[in-house]
Amino acid sequence: MSILRIESLTKVFGGLRAIDDLSFTIEPGSVHSVIGPNGAGKTTLFNLITGVYTPTSGRVLIEEQDVSALPTHSRAALGMSRTFQNLQICMNMSAIENVMLGRHLHLDGRFLPSLFRLPRIVRGDREARERCAELMEYVGLGRYINAEASGMPYGALKRLEIARSLAAEPKLLLLDEPAAGLNASETADLDEVIHKLGQAGVTVVLVEHDMKLVMNISEHIVVLNYGKKLAEGTAAEIRRNPDVIAAYLGAA
Ligand SMILES: Nc1ncnc2c1ncn2[C@@H]1O[C@H](COP(=O)(O)OP(=O)(O)OP(=O)(O)O)[C@@H](O)[C@H]1O
Ligand SMILES: [Mg+2]
Repeated sequence: MSILRIESLTKVFGGLRAIDDLSFTIEPGSVHSVIGPNGAGKTTLFNLITGVYTPTSGRVLIEEQDVSALPTHSRAALGMSRTFQNLQICMNMSAIENVMLGRHLHLDGRFLPSLFRLPRIVRGDREARERCAELMEYVGLGRYINAEASGMPYGALKRLEIARSLAAEPKLLLLDEPAAGLNASETADLDEVIHKLGQAGVTVVLVEHDMKLVMNISEHIVVLNYGKKLAEGTAAEIRRNPDVIAAYLGAA
């Protein structure tokens, strides 16, 4: 059974077809990537998958269940979690409290109600805090367990966001440009975390411009161009695909 199926998906903004009759399937396990030039529709695709946007036409299926009409929190409850292209960390909270928000999101379903009950979340129960500390260790942020988010470097905050999305215990994890703004050593750490997640059986869908990272860790790659699927295949197939080279990778 596929974990994610995109069927003839289209999203129109005014006159622009940001996603244009797109179909592909993600099988469970390992790391999948969606690549393509700026404006190709990658973030729009994530917003359609998670329910931030309603499709103009077409369907999104999670484990063969049509979720196209479900709100974001119902989709999250089916085991889907994401990170954002623009960092979304609460800077007035500690690192671990940010991770605990992700757990609460999972248990409670909705983000706003959890914010209103902040004192209770922040107090938390010891078990939840322990699990979140484990997740911070898992993504290599053990030294920041007692840190304030506002004092952490950007690369660490990107991994903190991954820890927060993992706190929801997802089956399907969508990462939107996790390596953007990271230096080479931070990217290598991220590579290791994503690889480890794939090995652990989490299905990862990665949107990323860092081709070294993508080619290193992806089992399967979908290439978007102007909202359409330009190509699909293994890293080796994508690397030598002439259409992909022309539209995106360049002759080098
Ligand atoms: N809410 C919106 N309203 C109008 N147009 C939008 C909206 N969201 C995205 N677009 C347009 O849809 C197209 C696809 O945008 P999207 O952000 O999905 O691209 P992307 O592949 O994620 O690009 P990048 O690599 O720069 O992040 C762009 O032309 C963008 O301007
Ligand atoms: Mg984007």
